[in-house]
Amino acid sequence: MIAGFSGFERDKSNVIPLLQYVQREIGFLPGNMMGEVADYLRLPKAHIYGVATFYSQFRFKPQGEHVITVCEGTACHVRGRGEIRKKLESILGITAGETTEDRMFSLETVACLGSCALAPTMVVDGRVYGKMNEKKLKKLFEAIKFKQE
Ligand code: FES
Repeated sequence: MIAGFSGFERDKSNVIPLLQYVQREIGFLPGNMMGEVADYLRLPKAHIYGVATFYSQFRFKPQGEHVITVCEGTACHVRGRGEIRKKLESILGITAGETTEDRMFSLETVACLGSCALAPTMVVDGRVYGKMNEKKLKKLFEAIKFKQE
């Protein structure tokens, strides 16, 4: 059990807050930790797994140092997000939902980032980038590389 569990009441309503807590602490939800949450709340493990898999906010694998989220919404689709995603997959050598072997990048997709006026959009490490094109993508990767050196 993670020490911080004791700050949560052993109540069914704390399933999501506890899962969020574990994810904040570890970065994802390992299977054993979902078991720990179940034991702590005295609930069946299947219930915890059911909740965790229902919400897209929960991750079951470790993420890369940089998380790139490409919008798959209609506005972005119409304005060429397909090309952006293909380029990203080609640069990173992974497809959406995967993390590079060196754990530097994770590539994800989302239904809409809520910034349709800036389509095609993507988010890198929590920051929204709009009106993306190959040139901007190249600059962005150069900036990330520069930060790491
Ligand atoms: S469709 Fe891409 S931000 Fe809304």
